[in-house]
Amino acid sequence: MRSSTSLAIASLLTIASAHVQLWYPEWRGNSFLPPFSQTIFPCAGINDNSTTARTLWPLDGGSLNFTLHDDAAYISVNIGLGVNTTNFNITLFSAPLNETGRGNVCFPKLQLPADFVVAEGTSASIQIATTSNSGEGLYNCGDITFTKNATLLPADQCQNSSTITITPLGQSVSTSPSTTSSAPATSSSSAASSLAYKEYTASGFVLLLAGLFTAML
Ligand SMILES: *[C@@H]1O[C@H](CO)[C@@H](O)[C@H](O)[C@H]1NC(C)=O
Ligand SMILES: *[C@@H]1O[C@H](CO)[C@@H](O)[C@H](O)[C@H]1NC(C)=O
Ligand SMILES: *[C@@H]1O[C@H](CO)[C@@H](O)[C@H](O)[C@H]1NC(C)=O
Ligand SMILES: *[C@@H]1O[C@H](CO)[C@@H](O)[C@H](O)[C@H]1NC(C)=O
Ligand SMILES: *[C@@H]1O[C@H](CO)[C@@H](O)[C@H](O)[C@H]1NC(C)=O
Ligand SMILES: *[C@@H]1O[C@H](CO)[C@@H](O)[C@H](O)[C@H]1NC(C)=O
Ligand SMILES: *[C@@H]1O[C@H](CO)[C@@H](O)[C@H](O)[C@H]1NC(C)=O
Repeated sequence: MRSSTSLAIASLLTIASAHVQLWYPEWRGNSFLPPFSQTIFPCAGINDNSTTARTLWPLDGGSLNFTLHDDAAYISVNIGLGVNTTNFNITLFSAPLNETGRGNVCFPKLQLPADFVVAEGTSASIQIATTSNSGEGLYNCGDITFTKNATLLPADQCQNSSTITITPLGQSVSTSPSTTSSAPATSSSSAASSLAYKEYTASGFVLLLAGLFTAML
């Protein structure tokens, strides 16, 4: 009882500062658990070794399924070739995705770059990088083997929550010429979502603690 309570406290403390759950491809390890931390680039401090799982993933792009626990995030998805790579040089979206709302995000089939050709059996890793308006970066990696044997997730396993909205970043930003002497941008919407992000982090933590104390009674 006591040990399960302290375990609960430890995981609540961890979840309060870590915000992305990667479901598919299977993540390299549980990045909620210390000493791992999603704030560590490039893969939450978890090395890719012979014991970590590799999900079979189609040669021309596969599924990606994850849950976001924050009110807003800018999302990038990158691929690095090889085992335990730190070089995530294949970027799947030309601009980060601007996501708002908490919930599940699933891409049935990610589009790979047009000139990307990979050999059967190639080991690689997929990195999900999210950034808040305040600049905090969170990283998770899932290890894959590119193969013709792989299949996409069935539709009932791959859905976006109705609570989330995703658009390419910058879609609503005007294309004024950039100058180094321009006035600082004071976008009220980005200030507001930055605030919401911080408020969620704090209030979510209080709610989790409240739930814990209720459970202990
Ligand atoms: C995809 O995410 C949903 C929602 O979190 C989860 O229920 C489902 O098991 C996931 N599917 C796979 C194959 O990871
Ligand atoms: C492989 O990496 C995981 C996560 O970092 C670690 O828990 C495990 O001990 C490692 N195994 C080996 C054989 O190095
Ligand atoms: C993986 O890469 C990290 C960082 O470069 C390195 O410290 C670690 O020893 C490597 N682990 C394995 C199993 O190759
Ligand atoms: C990415 O880096 C790998 C080596 O890790 C290299 O083989 C590949 O050509 C690079 N791809 C791009 C698009 O830069
Ligand atoms: C793909 O399937 C074939 C036939 O079952 C098998 O020989 C091969 O090892 C598989 N490749 C991978 C990467 O699992
Ligand atoms: C989830 O949203 C993304 C971004 O708009 C989209 O590419 C993807 O197809 C959606 N997933 C499903 C299952 O509709
Ligand atoms: C991101 O999306 C939200 C609503 O979905 C919008 O209010 C905001 O302006 C967008 N931010 C950028 C930088 O595109």
